[in-house]
Amino acid sequence: MSQTETKDALRPAAATKVTPQTLLQSKRAFTPLTALTAYDYPTARLADEAGIDMLLVGDSLGTAVLGYDNTLRVTMDDMLHHARAVRRGTKRALLVVDMPYGSYQVSIEDAVRNGLRFFKECGSEAVKLEGGIAYAPHVKALTQAEMPVVGHIGLTPQSVHRMGGYRVQGLSEMDAMRLRDDALALEEAGAIAIVLEGIPRELAAEITAFLSIPTIGIGAGPDCDGQILVFHDLFSLSFTRKPKFVRSFGDGRLLMERGIRDFRDAVMAKTFPDDHESYHMPKAEIVAERDVASTKQREVSVCK
Ligand code: KIV
Repeated sequence: MSQTETKDALRPAAATKVTPQTLLQSKRAFTPLTALTAYDYPTARLADEAGIDMLLVGDSLGTAVLGYDNTLRVTMDDMLHHARAVRRGTKRALLVVDMPYGSYQVSIEDAVRNGLRFFKECGSEAVKLEGGIAYAPHVKALTQAEMPVVGHIGLTPQSVHRMGGYRVQGLSEMDAMRLRDDALALEEAGAIAIVLEGIPRELAAEITAFLSIPTIGIGAGPDCDGQILVFHDLFSLSFTRKPKFVRSFGDGRLLMERGIRDFRDAVMAKTFPDDHESYHMPKAEIVAERDVASTKQREVSVCK
């Protein structure tokens, strides 16, 4: 296969824009949905051009990119900055932006006001927020203000302190019942999809079966309508502990480590840049410069 043919084979067949309606159609057609987080222009472009259906500017930005221990310190300004970059790299995928901690917990008005900023200032096509029944009124208000919302239940990283760490949720029947109720409440409030994170496979399958909107799983087993992973986890670029559900699809870390070391070695050995990597003066200029130099040389020796 030629290089162009390989490139074509990697390109998705249909480049039709993904909308909330597409997600629904995919669920009905049992076509798996693909989603990835993105935080910048180049990775958004790569994922979009590879045919990923949904790009999420996740507040995992805090841990994956900004070096925080958790997502709680991520601000509206952080999210807006990165969402604008991802917008520039995204054409086909549905662009979803996470509402960071503190941007919707205080009031429904906050949720709508902050949600609007993502649509007006970064071209977001949906927002995502963490929480179940307690946040159904927020989801409803955002939806009424023409902002599609993706819900997120189960292991919700913004609840890290309440949960006492990142723990699998829904393990007891009572907990599972609460999550079923959360899922239903979000659907009724108008959510276009729900992320199910860190829950038993059996519970995720059950929720997926009774909802009419798609579920997108992360650590929730293979029976969800779609799957999402954090971009940096996909390429072993995360410095945090690797959860059980993460599969590395390429060793980006090794590639980068090697590349950085090779660059350093080449500079130290003075083999980079070589002559081909250097600009050259036009030949005529070199001759002229040589003439000027030799005239100057002659003048100096005459003066002596
Ligand atoms: O912020 C994020 O990356 C997320 C995904 C884990 C779904 O919310």
